[in-house]
Amino acid sequence: MTFTFDGRPVPTDGRRTIAAALLAAGIRSWRRTRVGARPRGIFCGIGICFDCLVRVNGTPSQRACLVVARPGDVVETHDDGGPRP
Ligand code: FES
Repeated sequence: MTFTFDGRPVPTDGRRTIAAALLAAGIRSWRRTRVGARPRGIFCGIGICFDCLVRVNGTPSQRACLVVARPGDVVETHDDGGPRP
């Protein structure tokens, strides 16, 4: 079972979070900051910091540390839309 992250298949068991699945696949960042486009991934891991935002099935600002990675989901890098360096 897989979901896609920026078009790349990522394994999931249908129970782990998107952050857990991405980390298990060796992917450590999935958001870029508005200022400086700095990479961000997981920080607190418990839904507090909002560092881990991703776009899931077209819905922006989903916390990867809380949302379960379901088979077939389309997960994309969350770009805050700021100026690029
Ligand atoms: S890592 Fe902090 S909210 Fe997800």
